[in-house]
Amino acid sequence: MKILGIETSCDETSIAIVKDGREVIINNTISQIELHKEFGGVKPSIAKFAHEQVIDNLIEQTLIDGKLSMKEIDAIAVTVGPGLVISLLVGLKSAKELAKKFNKKLIGVNHLFGHICSNFLESDLEPPFICLLASGGHTQIIDVKTYTEYEILGSTLDDACGEAFDKIGRLLGLPYPGGPNLEILAMDGNPETFKLPEAKVKPYDFSFSGLKTAVLRLVQKLPVDYNKADLAASFQENVTNTLVKKIISAAKDKNSKKIVVAGGVAANKTLRKKIQECTHIPVFMPNLKYCTDNAAMIAAAGYFLKDVHQDIDTLDVFAKDPSSIKLKTLSKAPL
Ligand code: KG4
Ligand code: ZN
Repeated sequence: MKILGIETSCDETSIAIVKDGREVIINNTISQIELHKEFGGVKPSIAKFAHEQVIDNLIEQTLIDGKLSMKEIDAIAVTVGPGLVISLLVGLKSAKELAKKFNKKLIGVNHLFGHICSNFLESDLEPPFICLLASGGHTQIIDVKTYTEYEILGSTLDDACGEAFDKIGRLLGLPYPGGPNLEILAMDGNPETFKLPEAKVKPYDFSFSGLKTAVLRLVQKLPVDYNKADLAASFQENVTNTLVKKIISAAKDKNSKKIVVAGGVAANKTLRKKIQECTHIPVFMPNLKYCTDNAAMIAAAGYFLKDVHQDIDTLDVFAKDPSSIKLKTLSKAPL
């Protein structure tokens, strides 16, 4: 079964075709990073406009690159939330038009569910497993029981992990997005230089706002020519230690046989290395190119949701975080 995936939840327009939820035939992504750089973050009106400018051509180009016609596509999967509503609407509009024109099944996908499914791409991973999902908008520990049944064990109480990377990146004067740029700066730093605090929250929950404030206070006290690489490395060390400690302890508590990492922060090489060094439980992570937002993961998610009933006529984007809404039209369990 070949599914065309459409992802426009934030600042990437991405179109992909994936076979049977695992084999990526083609994944094309146009990043808007250069457009948002001068604002230090994503500017919604620009994001919407930029998606609209490229989406039709990108769908056409993806079919050409994949050497497929719409006739050979079995269904269309589209991100419906969470994300920037005006950006999501661009993808949903195109998806609905395509589905209508070519009489294809339309599948709405929760973006976070998509991130989990990025681990099925080019892999033979199967549930059950315990998943650390760390992105720019969410940080969660999820007990993935089957392809469509989940239990969220814990979440961040304030900032998401990627958001913390982005904010500290900005504080260090790094360009947007902070996460990958902070990782590069940290390579030249000593992670032992600054001892930063760890939030005292429930075992599976996270909190990064106290850490952010601690870094801010520290910078105010340091001389202007302080070593930024040392601070970047110390911050990264603190965050990755917390993530690794919590996911491993959740895996042990749940007697989990597999640990899975997902979301943009899963691209962080210190996190990837540390988690594998700290446990004997097998660890699965997406290929680097499928960690940050992409349509291949949405197409994969569409495959695993294909038999879940959805009321397509009322399919709409989520105006708020779907962890608080019943996703009965999307999957059995909310994310
Ligand atoms: O999953 P994603 O592409 O978008 C959301 O769904 O939010 O994640 C983007 C987030 C950003 O906050 C970005 O700074 C962070 O992931 N990120 C990283 C790295 N690459 C992306 N954080 C740390 N290290 C990285 N290498
Ligand atoms: Zn994402």
